[in-house]
Amino acid sequence: MKPVAEALLYDWPLEDLRASCRSIEPALTIEVWPEIDSTNSELMRRARAGHAAPTLLVAERQTLGRGRSGRVWHADPKRSLTFSIGLTPPLPPEPRAWSGLSLAVGVAVAGALHPEVGLKWPNDLWWRDHKLGGILIETTQVGSQRYAVVGIGLNLRMPLQDAIDPPGVGIDALLPGLDAPGLLLRVAPAVLAGLQRFGREGLGAFLDDWRARDVLAGRAVRLSDGRVGKAIGIDADGALQIEHAGGIERIESASLSVRPLDMASPLGLWP
Ligand code: BTN
Repeated sequence: MKPVAEALLYDWPLEDLRASCRSIEPALTIEVWPEIDSTNSELMRRARAGHAAPTLLVAERQTLGRGRSGRVWHADPKRSLTFSIGLTPPLPPEPRAWSGLSLAVGVAVAGALHPEVGLKWPNDLWWRDHKLGGILIETTQVGSQRYAVVGIGLNLRMPLQDAIDPPGVGIDALLPGLDAPGLLLRVAPAVLAGLQRFGREGLGAFLDDWRARDVLAGRAVRLSDGRVGKAIGIDADGALQIEHAGGIERIESASLSVRPLDMASPLGLWP
């Protein structure tokens, strides 16, 4: 895909971004597009074509934004931030450990935002049972290396473009006055640093922070396959533990979603 020759909505602080990101990932290229189908799709297309350079790709508008589990990601360009970072992350040697990457990225994003930002397993960003943003991580093999695309969508302020389930909230509730470029400047370097740390230290380095932000801990929950139980936190591998009459179950698959039982589903998307 080629960038559309259109004016950008914002004046993006590219020099500051380069300075703070390249001290962590020296070869990083930064691109800002007015419109694209999906920043994740674009970086995955490039990787599958053999182009696996470290890239931060920001789009002011996505026409086919994607969420987890095949859902659509709606984002109003004036009220949100959408970007992806594609790179070959330093991963721990055992592939089993890679699933922890998505939890580590959640911790990195939440940590760059505010102490009150919570994490809903595996890596949704919540505040007071409202969704502030989401993370979609995809990987593909490029030669002998695993290329990862970390896509992040953050709600900046209300009203959002569409009703979403769970209800959305803007980060300006916690950080008034922040705009999309300012938000990117906070979050992108933190994600890069988090990826480096995950490569060096693995998920163990993120567990305490993740647990401190766990919005489900101790709550009755329902899984998208209908099972119910009490969420009792994540284990050392990042699996969600659910306690019920039959014992404790580990939920590993991020294709399952989980939701507090006491939360209404305004759009009726949940059982
Ligand atoms: C979710 O909560 O379901 C994950 C949402 C991830 C959305 C971001 S926006 C930037 C990147 N490009 C996409 O198409 N999706 C991710």
